[in-house]
Order: sequence, then C-alpha cells, then structure tokens
Amino acid sequence: MKKVIVTGGAGFIGSHTCVELVAAGYEPVIVDDLRNSEERALEGIAKITGRVPLGYRIDCNDEGGMERVFAEHAPVHGVIHFAADKAVGESVADPLKYYHNNIGSLAILLRVMARHGVKRIVFSSSCTVYGQPEKMPVTETSPDRNASSPYGYTKVVCEQMLRDLSHADPLLKAVLLRYFNPIGAHPSAHIGELPRGVPTNLVPYVTQTAAGQREVLTINGNDYPTPDGTNVRDYIHVVDLARAHVMALDWMEKQAAPLCEVFNLGTGKGNSVLEVVKTFVEVNGVPVPHRFGPRRAGDVVSIWADVRKSRDELGWSCKLDLKDALRDAWRWQKGLERAAG
Ligand code: NAD
Ligand code: WQD
Repeated sequence: MKKVIVTGGAGFIGSHTCVELVAAGYEPVIVDDLRNSEERALEGIAKITGRVPLGYRIDCNDEGGMERVFAEHAPVHGVIHFAADKAVGESVADPLKYYHNNIGSLAILLRVMARHGVKRIVFSSSCTVYGQPEKMPVTETSPDRNASSPYGYTKVVCEQMLRDLSHADPLLKAVLLRYFNPIGAHPSAHIGELPRGVPTNLVPYVTQTAAGQREVLTINGNDYPTPDGTNVRDYIHVVDLARAHVMALDWMEKQAAPLCEVFNLGTGKGNSVLEVVKTFVEVNGVPVPHRFGPRRAGDVVSIWADVRKSRDELGWSCKLDLKDALRDAWRWQKGLERAAG
C-alpha cells in the first residue's frame, strides 16, 4: 500500500482526508502534535474505516522526529501538509507564531523530503491569498498577494517556496490547493471540527448557538453591497474537499515533473451569511437566534471560486451541497453534546 504522510492529519480537514485516503487504498501516516486537535480524531477515523491509522504525536518543526517517521515508513509515496496554525485574528496579534510554525514547518518538511527522495507534496493553501478579488468568480490566475493577515501571508510565502523549489528540483511535484470555506463533518458524525474556545468561524458558531451553548449569533454587518447586505462566501463540504486531495495525488502521477500547480477548491457558488443561517434552520428544524452587529475588520465583501480548472484537470467536483454540510455539521454538534454528557 502506498504510504502518505499526512501532517495535521488529526485536524478538521486532515482527518476527513485520511478517511478518503484509506477508501482509495492509500495508507495514511499521521504526524500531528495535537496542538489543535484530539486523539479521538484517530478513533473516529478507525470507526469509519475499520482500520486504526498510524499516528505520531510529533511537532513538524522537530526535524529529528520527522526524519524518524520518514525513515520508518520508507518508501514514502507522498506528503499532504495540513499542519499549520489557522486563526486569522490570532495571527494579527501574534504574527511570529504564524511565520514560525506555518513557514518554518514547511521548510523543515521539504528538507526531510529531499533527504528521503520523496517528490510529491499536496499543500493546504487558502482563498485568503486572493484578498478581495476584482472579478468573481475568482480564478487561479487572479492576482494574489493581497492577503490581509499574517496568516494569509504565510500561505502566500509557502506557495512561493514550493514554486521556487519546483524550479530548483526537476523531480518535484507540488499541488497547491486553495480551499474556500470548508464546513460540515463526516455524515457518520465520528469526525468533525473541534473549535477551541469561542469559535470565530461562522458554522461552528451557528451550531453552538443552535445547541444553546451561545446565546445569540452576531452577524458581522448587513450593509455590504450584496443582495441581502451580508458577506458572501463559498462554503464547501469537508468530505468533498477531502476527496480532492486523493484526486490530486492520483493526478500528479500522470503529470511530468517538475510540477507546481494551483487549484481552487470550492463549490463555485456563493452564499450569504443570512442564507447559511436560514438554510441551517430549514434543514435542521432548530432556531438560531441572531442579530446584526458591526462589520468585522478584515472581512472581504464577497468571494467564491471558479472551479473549472479543478473540474477539467483533476476531474473533481462537489457531490454535496450547503444543506448536506449544515445537516452534517448539526449531527456532529449533537454528537459532541452527547459525548460531553
Ligand atoms: P486544524 O487546526 O483542525 O488542523 C491542523 C492540524 O495541524 C491540527 O490537528 C494541529 O494539531 C496540527 N498542527 C499544527 N501545527 C503543527 C505542528 N507544527 N506539528 C504538528 N501538528 C501541527 O485545521 P484545518 O481546518 O484542518 O486546516 C488544515 C489546513 O488547511 C491548514 O493548513 C489551514 O491553514 C488550511 N486551511 C483551512 C481552512 C479552514 O477554514 N479550515 C481554509 C483554508 C485553508
Ligand atoms: C464567514 C462569514 C463573517 C462568524 C476564514 C479565513 C480564511 C479561510 C476560511 C483559512 C464572514 C461571518 C462569522 C460570526 C458572522 N481559512 N461571521 N458571525 O472569514 O470567510 O474565512 O476561514 O484559510 O482565511 O479568514 O470565514 O467562517 O470566519 O466567516 O457573521 O460569528 O461569516 O463575518 O462574513 P472567512 P468565517
């Protein structure tokens, strides 16, 4: 079985990707120090796949530790690099933490990969690299580097590192996946998102409000130049997103090296914050108390993906929609409540 090292594999997107890797016949080897996740993600993956995944509690910045994992699992077919800090607001308050972990860990990973002759990498990038694009939907060729936070800049820099490396190493193949807004959970409710503290992302805040953990959802602004005045985003089901990683690995096989290719991963459709709230209420039959508040600093007005390149080249498209994602997010939230007693 082809072994794929999955850094950050215990996290939200990583855990769902491990499930899809197993389903496709790959063997994921998870490297995660659980700084933003929990051991139970591995138990969830095992419940879904029937196989306990290999897991190492190691910081990706620990070069010696990474060396040991690569040596133990040689030959490593490829790497999917999810491990990163991802809180936009925190990155503004503590930029060094982000530059250190997100950029530093990629540099170390690439060095270890080079020493072990591993030539395939899929990298987690973000639509945040686009900032507020001029034209919608946004294509991969839209001018980037407009990221409006240190977190966003770490993604711009990591993308550039991979581009530079693919120029220097004629055998390297890199795929950079720009995720739009991943939401939802596995339909089994065995894995999902585990936000720490007060969620800053919309859907975890919605599910916690519906569950009564939060009193009211504040919608950040209703005076934007959009049809209902609230921001528009491209919300993609995490299971669709996870599948794309497997397809990217498969696609890479057929491409000549060197390779450094960018793909948008979204639904291709924009939904407003109000539409998300209304759809959640409609699908799950639970109320979500909400009120309008001021705009949130740094929010772009609207963004959604042009997904033609992913569709035409990777052969990937979404099978699930906003309703599926909000139904699965609620199912996961209810499971968390039960587990907490
Ligand atoms: P997550 O926090 O749930 O998962 C990241 C995982 O990486 C966590 O399990 C964390 O413990 C681990 N990790 C972080 N730094 C580490 C290190 N130095 N060593 C070992 N493990 C480490 O986040 P996610 O939502 O699954 O995001 C995965 C990737 O996708 C990240 O790179 C993120 O920037 C990117 N991304 C996420 C979103 C989103 O909205 N969730 C959108 C675009 C891009
Ligand atoms: C969505 C919309 C909020 C919470 C972030 C990162 C981006 C990428 C994806 C990693 C916005 C509104 C939210 C709330 C609200 N991540 N909202 N009330 O900001 O589009 O993208 O995640 O790469 O880089 O910035 O996602 O879920 O935070 O917000 O009204 O309590 O919901 O203002 O319009 P965002 P989000």
